[in-house]
Amino acid sequence: MFPERVSSLKTSGIRKLFEAAPRGAINLGLGEPDMQPPPEMIEALCRAVTEGHNKYGPSAGVLELREAIAEYLRRYRKDVSFENIIVTAGATEGMRIACETILGEGDEALVPNPGFIIYGPDVKLAGGEPVEYPLRRENGYLPEAEEIRSLITPRTKAIIVNSPSNPTGTVFPKETVKALCEVAREHKLYILSDEVYDGYVYEGEHWSFARFHNDTIIVQSFSKSLAATGWRIGYVATSKEIVQQLSKVQYYTLACPPTATQFAVLEGLKVLDRFQAEVLAEFRKRRELALKKLAEIPTFDTPAVSGAFYAFPKFANDISSERFALRILEAGVICAAGASFGSKGEGHLRFSYANSLENIAKGLDVVKELAARL
Ligand SMILES: Cc1ncc(COP(=O)(O)O)c(C=O)c1O
Repeated sequence: MFPERVSSLKTSGIRKLFEAAPRGAINLGLGEPDMQPPPEMIEALCRAVTEGHNKYGPSAGVLELREAIAEYLRRYRKDVSFENIIVTAGATEGMRIACETILGEGDEALVPNPGFIIYGPDVKLAGGEPVEYPLRRENGYLPEAEEIRSLITPRTKAIIVNSPSNPTGTVFPKETVKALCEVAREHKLYILSDEVYDGYVYEGEHWSFARFHNDTIIVQSFSKSLAATGWRIGYVATSKEIVQQLSKVQYYTLACPPTATQFAVLEGLKVLDRFQAEVLAEFRKRRELALKKLAEIPTFDTPAVSGAFYAFPKFANDISSERFALRILEAGVICAAGASFGSKGEGHLRFSYANSLENIAKGLDVVKELAARL
């Protein structure tokens, strides 16, 4: 009755668990910072509304914000101007319109497995074919350039990458980023890089793909960096030509990004560094505690990954990740089943440490007790 590209879409496993949670459950499931956005940004939103920024704006976003984002990005890429930026309704919409813009019918895009859940469906909704590349525990969940090369066919158009990664928390080192850019250059592919966790790096450094490859489409968001998941605001940074095409697609998808929110983010950008530093200091403590607690679980193998706010233990208990996550839910803790992120996520659980130290400790004690019984 419905076209396959729609009927084959699955309801997000993460959302399903969240919605089935008992009252008072400890949430180590969802991927959003628990703090409120910076007060300067909240005040700016109220001001924007009262000052009358309540009407349609340009499809690619208001010029002032596009210019401010470009200025921010010039820290690592000097040639960026407002023409390289389109403001979007978060990374979710940014990834979606990017796939629609660059993929033709039957074109292939390489997507990570395990990986964030939107990539495969986005490729399919654009009429393309997702081809999965594995991320393996023994390789620190990093993509391997040679393996990526072996998956390329004449129909391949893009490699979708995500560092720092959801669900694994891996941060790609410079060599990995450069090696993938080299593959993309050799085969004339786009790199579609989801960098929404770029501010959440606890060790080492974030290396944007835009530093090494011109045909890069950076998908970004203020959801995580300014703790504003519900505001639905982000951007895509890429070539001027792609931005022009994206703006057309965005017009037919969204008309324009929300106007008042853009004026608020303009203020948010001014305090982004300070806010991120504060959030990171808090999350660093949480990460340490989460890793310490998870290390106490004998059936869990949890790599000490250095980014995002997820721990992704591989477990030795004889149970599927979905059943395990359900049992944990019944015991009062929400987490995500590894299988929600692709077949290679089976045998894993994802715990978000975007919660208080107290809740992380309590929640992981519950998990430890349950893991001992299974
Ligand atoms: C890797 C990744 N990309 C994109 C998103 C979606 O971000 P946004 O809120 O900007 O749509 C998320 C949200 O969890 C994510 O984890």
